Amino acid sequence: MTSSNDIRATFLDYFARTGHQVVESSPLVPRNDPTLMFANSGMVQFKNVFTGAERRPYSTATTAQKCVRAGGKHNDLDNVGYTARHHTFFEMLGNFSFGNYFKEQAIEHAWTLLTRDFSLPKDKLLVTVYSEDEEAPVFWKKIAGISDSRIIRIPTSDNFWRMGDTGPCGPCSEIFYDHGDKIWGGPPGSPDENGDRFIEIWNLVFMQFLEEPAGTRNPLPRPSIDTGMGLERFAAILQGVHDNYDTDTLRALILASADATGQGADGEFRISHRVVADHLRAGSFLIADGVLPSNEGRGYVLRRILRRAMRHAHMMGAKEPLLYRLFPALERQMGVAYPELGRAGALITETLRLEEQKFRGLLERGLGLLAEETARLADKETLPGAIAFKLYDTYGFPLDLTQDALRGEGRAVDLDGFNAAMAEQKTRARAAWAGTGEAATETLWFDIKERTGTSEFLGYDTEQAEGELLAVVTGGVEAISAGPGAEVSVVLNQTPFYAESGGQVGDAGVITGPDGLRIAIQDTQKKLGLFIHSGVVEAGHPRPGQAVVATVDHTRRSAIRAHHSATHLLHEALRRKLGTHVAQKGSLNAPDRLRFDVSHNKPMEPAELAWVEAEVNARIRENAEVSTRLMTPEAAVAEGAMALFGEKYGEEVRVVSMGRDGERAFSVELCGGTHVRRTGDIGLFRIVSEGGVAAGVRRVEAVTGEAALALIDDSMAQLREAAAVLKVNPADLPGRIATLLEERRKLERDVGELRKKLATGGAAAEVEEIGGLRVALRDLGDTPAKDLRGIAEAILKAGSADVVVLASNEGGKASIVAGLAEAAKGRADAPSLVRAAAAAVGGKGGGGKPEMAQAGGPDGERLADALAAVRAALAMG
Ligand code: ALA
Repeated sequence: MTSSNDIRATFLDYFARTGHQVVESSPLVPRNDPTLMFANSGMVQFKNVFTGAERRPYSTATTAQKCVRAGGKHNDLDNVGYTARHHTFFEMLGNFSFGNYFKEQAIEHAWTLLTRDFSLPKDKLLVTVYSEDEEAPVFWKKIAGISDSRIIRIPTSDNFWRMGDTGPCGPCSEIFYDHGDKIWGGPPGSPDENGDRFIEIWNLVFMQFLEEPAGTRNPLPRPSIDTGMGLERFAAILQGVHDNYDTDTLRALILASADATGQGADGEFRISHRVVADHLRAGSFLIADGVLPSNEGRGYVLRRILRRAMRHAHMMGAKEPLLYRLFPALERQMGVAYPELGRAGALITETLRLEEQKFRGLLERGLGLLAEETARLADKETLPGAIAFKLYDTYGFPLDLTQDALRGEGRAVDLDGFNAAMAEQKTRARAAWAGTGEAATETLWFDIKERTGTSEFLGYDTEQAEGELLAVVTGGVEAISAGPGAEVSVVLNQTPFYAESGGQVGDAGVITGPDGLRIAIQDTQKKLGLFIHSGVVEAGHPRPGQAVVATVDHTRRSAIRAHHSATHLLHEALRRKLGTHVAQKGSLNAPDRLRFDVSHNKPMEPAELAWVEAEVNARIRENAEVSTRLMTPEAAVAEGAMALFGEKYGEEVRVVSMGRDGERAFSVELCGGTHVRRTGDIGLFRIVSEGGVAAGVRRVEAVTGEAALALIDDSMAQLREAAAVLKVNPADLPGRIATLLEERRKLERDVGELRKKLATGGAAAEVEEIGGLRVALRDLGDTPAKDLRGIAEAILKAGSADVVVLASNEGGKASIVAGLAEAAKGRADAPSLVRAAAAAVGGKGGGGKPEMAQAGGPDGERLADALAAVRAALAMG
């Protein structure tokens, strides 16, 4: 048997040998197309190459592309499980020519590969062409030699392929395989064409036009080729089975499901096994490409797919979550061709398990309610919309789950009633909102949100993406357009721009669009789930409906990421050094710095900070992977996650782990921010400051990467400057400064000694006789006040005077000291003398003992007056 893996390899090999570039499948979430929910065919990643907007270094290519057709224009969800050929996930093999070869060669390649390499019998094949295409039939006859009767002309849109409402399109030619007359069905275009006898295996699209939003169709710059072959249906033919679900890959998944549930693969639960097998593939591949279950947009499509499968698991009696246990079987089948399954294995498994665990209780109760309600209805009577809405709103039943559950009973849901109930709920929400008395601008955002739904954030995986411009706000009101110079806030359906939250600042960047549109975005904020990009129109005119390209400022975002990841390492390092009472009180992660507030009731010691800084840098050098997973808050806490900020019970949280610590991660935190891939990307970490901001709260400021380097450069420059002043090497600075300080202290001592000598020397000559006492009155200039007393004592000790009064002017302030020798005791009083002197220099009081006192005053210039006052006081006795 030719395995699906062999078929894929043979296909790609053939086109590689004929000069085609083998290109990897693009992710399921299209980065280059705002109008598409998921990649739904091989050409999606080449859309801009067809239109000429993008150039690649090759002009022919081949791919095996992951596709999802659920939600959006191509939606097969409702049929999956019940038919032989519907899938939500499938693989499309294709070859592409971008203005290189056209119809003739495309037909030749297809025919050669099918009949030569895959050895399909020629008489089993027939083809369709678009009835207005006169060339294709000629080439088919020439190349394949098939007769007119096997070339069927189709006039309908079946043979005109379009990617979506807009985009490249063109007439196509489809190749069909005839399973033989044992199976019912007629050739394409016949009344019985929906039978299973004739199966389309390959679609060759002759890309010629570009469908524009207004409905006009313009020629592409160069005619091109896009082909698509569904791997599953082709495998069915080569493996001699008639049902895609009997091919090797899907059969293996069905058997795994049968094994895990104990329900036979082909018995009562045949449909359920098929649903599980298909939805497991879609779910796992979507999660691997960054989609996570949610209540909006792509996340909701994923949730619908998963919950639909979960109902079938429940029907089969699975007591425990089932899907995640089947993932290993999927990885065995497809992990080699799609290594992303292995890379995202942990995330896929956990997300599947969590979603199923969460939904089980609701499912059981919801199904109970449904059974009660249907018991009241007549046979085949439609379920009232209000009940379907209650199941949706209260029990988390997507509408299609309810429809699927009723399908077996031949019962439908009243859709009008369902939609009316939904509309009513919106009106109620609106009234409640208006009641909160928010400003008019808030009501504006509410209106927009109601119309557009929430924005989808793509920025965990990409920094550039196309989006549709949904609203332009300028001057506080919605506008249909704005011109250059206008300050605008714009909303897109999806965006790679991070909106400020959790301390991480909003992204800046640029939004470009048709006719030279260019908006410089300075900030992104979140309101009601809308991502609001604010900036200035630099050129062109933004208008709702435009397809635009949003590009995040990469350098700025990288720096923000580094600071945010460093904050996580800092948090853990602080806890390890200071204790587990350290909890986050606030944070800022900006491009140029980080600020982190924690609960801790005393200043951190320099040694503690040094340890923390060294620890963070060691983790950076470890260069360990940073991983992001989704789990319940409870599971996250069990893993050692910190910081549960207001997550509601039962909600999923993102858990970011980084670094290694034996078996565990060094840091585990709940966080919705963007992070580096490996800790080494942070580069370098430096603490700038530590201080108190409130009682029991300390703030650490730090920088990483470029900012840390700039800080070090500045410090080095200052160091070099200081070294140049002192004329030494920077390394010798500390020694040199210590020497200078020591020298200075010695000089100060010397100066004191000298002053003393100066004051005492010549004492005899300057003693005057007043009232029978030998009195030394001295103006000591700018001698420091603290030295006066010592000098006075030295003079007295020298014995040349009975009374010493010293005055000095230190920095404009007068100081007076008076001292008495034994001989003067009783005849004079030191405190009275200094008081008299102080009065002359504007001072008051003065104090000390009878034999030694001091005083001062503000008028340092009037020392002569002070000494004169002393002289007068002594003379008066
Ligand atoms: N893009 C074409 C298809 O999906 C080949 O059928």
